[in-house]
Amino acid sequence: MKSPFQYGKLAEGTTFVNRLKEKQMLKNNLVSGINTMLISPRRLGKSSLVKLATTELLNENKEIKVCYIDAFTLNTEEGFYQAFAREVIKSASNRWESWLTTGKKYLQALSPRISIGSDPMYDFSIGFEMSAIKENELELLNLPEKIAQAKKIKMIVCIDEFQNFAKMKTYPELEQKMRSVWQHQQNVTYCFYGSKRHMMMEIFNSSSKPFYRFGQIMFLSKIAENEWVDFIVNAFGRTGKSISSELAKTLVSKVDLHSWYVQQLSHFVWNLTENEVTEDILMQATEQVIDANLPLYQRECEALSATQINLLAAVASGEQMLASAEVTAKYRLGTSQNVSKNKKTLQNADLLEKTKNGFNFLDPVFKQWFVSEYVR
Ligand SMILES: Nc1ncnc2c1ncn2[C@@H]1O[C@H](COP(=O)(O)OP(=O)(O)O)[C@@H](O)[C@H]1O
Ligand SMILES: [Mg+2]
Repeated sequence: MKSPFQYGKLAEGTTFVNRLKEKQMLKNNLVSGINTMLISPRRLGKSSLVKLATTELLNENKEIKVCYIDAFTLNTEEGFYQAFAREVIKSASNRWESWLTTGKKYLQALSPRISIGSDPMYDFSIGFEMSAIKENELELLNLPEKIAQAKKIKMIVCIDEFQNFAKMKTYPELEQKMRSVWQHQQNVTYCFYGSKRHMMMEIFNSSSKPFYRFGQIMFLSKIAENEWVDFIVNAFGRTGKSISSELAKTLVSKVDLHSWYVQQLSHFVWNLTENEVTEDILMQATEQVIDANLPLYQRECEALSATQINLLAAVASGEQMLASAEVTAKYRLGTSQNVSKNKKTLQNADLLEKTKNGFNFLDPVFKQWFVSEYVR
């Protein structure tokens, strides 16, 4: 029988747990034309939530069309404009014949090269000359609004890992142009989501930046313990195995309610279990999760300097006064300048997050492994 748990792919159908409130809020926003920026550490469930919420909107309302762009793979402005035009055109119609006509009609000035590949459903590309892009940037950014007006539809444009755009050298000009065109659109709503909290906040919450007050910022929190426990107990039951609520609680607490790890650990436990989950199985499966992620953790640590590792060790040991003379000396953190630089670097690398209560590890399993390796 197939495992009822899944990771590495978007959660959907029976593998999707709850998030009813967040889903409703996101749907309400998007249907009301409120641009929404969704932020959480990676692998907590942003992409899954946006996909589910927008799919429901698509099914409920025939006037709505949705397109998805992943900024993670886009490193140049030209690349962005091409992906943007392609996905907007694709979403406006299900028929590839009309992609050709739509592309030609609305992007005439850019004389696009449009090609349909062997699998027309997915294999569609649109290319422009660089010079044509440069002269028609605003036109391109306005494409969804133009199509939406003409076809009397509403468009939702979803951009995943939006903060990745900020890595482009020309991003400051790009964001000016985006904002200046997008703020006037009446029939298009934007949903941007990203894993790098401070970069997202820098883009959307600094009063000096163009995207300041572009829409509502939403922080996605972890799925609650009782939701996970119900899901896990049911999933085992459905597949002819069983787990007690107590052990399910222990399971989710081992990975600190982190969505991806809950699914991965549950999957390993399920695989090891013939009938009923035992504590022993849970221990073995936890080892398997660490083993499975070990190469990643090692690679992450190899990229760090000695004082950065020491700073992680101090945080892992629960120290909060990281700049104090005592802590600096005890953990050999270097100069105070060094400490503040390392704090930034570790946040940028997504290893630490700063909360009201001080610094925390973002990845609960990495933390466990790190403690066993580096903290005595
Ligand atoms: N609502 C959910 N219910 C159950 N599992 C989830 C949920 N959201 C995410 N997950 C788990 O977490 C993993 C990462 O989810 P994803 O949506 O890709 O996160 P993000 O976009 O925040 O990085 C999924 O593969 C799935 O295993
Ligand atoms: Mg994602």
